[in-house]
Amino acid sequence: MCPTTPDLPRQTVTFPLATDADTARLGAWFAARLRAGDCLALTGPIGAGKSHLARALIRARLGRPQEDVPSPTFTLVQTYVADVEIWHSDLYRLTHPDEVLELGLDEAFAHAITLVEWPERMGSALPADAIRLTLSPLGDARRAEIAIPGRPALAAALRADWTPA
Ligand SMILES: Nc1ncnc2c1ncn2[C@@H]1O[C@H](COP(=O)(O)OP(=O)(O)OP(=O)(O)O)[C@@H](O)[C@H]1O
Ligand SMILES: [Mg+2]
Repeated sequence: MCPTTPDLPRQTVTFPLATDADTARLGAWFAARLRAGDCLALTGPIGAGKSHLARALIRARLGRPQEDVPSPTFTLVQTYVADVEIWHSDLYRLTHPDEVLELGLDEAFAHAITLVEWPERMGSALPADAIRLTLSPLGDARRAEIAIPGRPALAAALRADWTPA
């Protein structure tokens, strides 16, 4: 008989987002919980809803629901000042991982809340403890899969507040 595996806390949470309003609600959920120095890596294909989630998160943390939050597709980074700085980046057009240094993202990881679309473009420069949120198509809706390394309380809160598929 195989030895039993220790019951490690599960840190990946998966659930459906039926509409774009649910995606925005998830962004606002994180807005209330992220701290300075937290990185949220947003993965998923073009049009998955990464910017939509980031926009809702930024507006909620700023407390300004009408704030203009453009996609940083061409600027690569947009910054906001809430109680902490928020850096919203879209690295789709990054030409080389070293550009991350030129953008100042490495310093932002230490003091700001960083939201990174297309984090795979920056290779190993992504903080190891980044929260990894993947959005995938689910019919006309989306599926969210979230891995939270080293933050069991946050993973437990997510699991309590969002109903798995
Ligand atoms: N749960 C959902 N169900 C259906 N549509 C959604 C959902 N979440 C977001 N969307 C829609 O997905 C569309 C694309 O979103 P968005 O521009 O945020 O994609 P993106 O992942 O940032 O793409 P890109 O990689 O091009 O930056 C938006 O019109 C948004 O309303
Ligand atoms: Mg986007």
